[in-house]
Amino acid sequence: MSAPLKLGLAGLGTVGISALKRLVSMENELAIKAGRALRVEAVSARNPNKDRGVDLTRFSWYTDPTEMAKSDEIDVFVELIGGDSGPAEEAVRAAIMAGKHVITANKALLARHGNELAQLAEEHNVSINFEAAVAGGIPVVKAIREGLTSNTITRIYGILNGTCNYILSRMEDEGIAFEDCLKDAQRLGYAEADPSFDIEGNDTAHKLAILTSLAFGNQIDIDSIFLEGITSITQADIVAAEELGFRIKLLGVAQKTESGIEQRVHPTMVPMDSPIAQIDGVTNAVAIEGDAIGLITLAGPGAGGAATASAVIADVIDIARGLKVKPLGRPAATLQPYKPAEMRAHEGGYYIRLKVSDQSGVFASIANRMAEQGISLESIVQRKAKDKVELKSEVITKDKTPQDVVLITYETTELAIRTAIETIVTDGHVVASPQVIRIERL
Ligand code: HSE
Repeated sequence: MSAPLKLGLAGLGTVGISALKRLVSMENELAIKAGRALRVEAVSARNPNKDRGVDLTRFSWYTDPTEMAKSDEIDVFVELIGGDSGPAEEAVRAAIMAGKHVITANKALLARHGNELAQLAEEHNVSINFEAAVAGGIPVVKAIREGLTSNTITRIYGILNGTCNYILSRMEDEGIAFEDCLKDAQRLGYAEADPSFDIEGNDTAHKLAILTSLAFGNQIDIDSIFLEGITSITQADIVAAEELGFRIKLLGVAQKTESGIEQRVHPTMVPMDSPIAQIDGVTNAVAIEGDAIGLITLAGPGAGGAATASAVIADVIDIARGLKVKPLGRPAATLQPYKPAEMRAHEGGYYIRLKVSDQSGVFASIANRMAEQGISLESIVQRKAKDKVELKSEVITKDKTPQDVVLITYETTELAIRTAIETIVTDGHVVASPQVIRIERL
């Protein structure tokens, strides 16, 4: 057997401790599979006195992760600190420049600095493995970077945030309000330290940016992602979706179009019988469409200590086995500059819910405004508004209860929808912000 592979773990939160425990408890089995022992030599976290439920006295302790990253004690720096800058970034750069392989679960860091870090790793002839950064325990990075290498991928989409899927599933199953579901997600440890990263879609965007690069061979570009979170979704939308044969999921979608690549994160109406619609709770799923494979949907735990640690350890084993793949699947210099497709050119169907004053002529006026933009309606229904709503218009009087008008359009463009809604709002019938949810053809 070769010499042991010496590891330094930075960040001893849920994932770090879980990885540490598995590396220790499965030591013998992992050594056989990897062809050499995997030995944690050093750990790093801010507070050495915190009780983490594990005996850490046998490992060298570093309060400064950068110091550990540079230390001769380790061959591999495992970064589980998080954050797109600060200590995580500094330590990862230091590790690479010191010739250490890097394993990271840090999607924010890769989304922001992945191109440069991939280049730096190549220059120093080390690996950056990041299976845990996208969709937790699902081996999707490996699937795209290795298993599907010969495919031309045309679209990739997924449920990439467990917290959002948990919230939407519970809103649907139990009729619970958004805020209560979020509190439970936080209590159960699914949410990020700042849950706005989950519910505003940033976490999904980070993961999507990485997947897009792997799938299409472009440079990572987090800033071009169209982003909408789930905070505006109400029970009225959940109920309407169900009646119309859809479920609402927060999807990250990347697809090639004639004008460039579309990267978007937004609540999405997905057909109830599609594989992605079956994904409930904290589970993640990634669907990959390729010319040779057709459609592959991978589903599994997207968060949680053990599941994420499983991905981290798989990355460690790849390094122990001497398996070396360019971080983004090809030499960094050959990654294409990212060419964004404009969101207003996006084509698809739309769900629109307008809260209007119940007056004659409103319905017809809305339908006319849609027709003016060449938007063809699949359905338009009026329903009694169920939501508690803060009305922002004085149009409402006691005898004119607001109504929800729900429209489903056939395929149209984002520009046409935005223009039509703008004119409808200007017409003055709408008494609350319009709700627009894109429908994804699956
Ligand atoms: N907050 C993330 C989620 C954790 O809810 O999916 C995994 O990235």
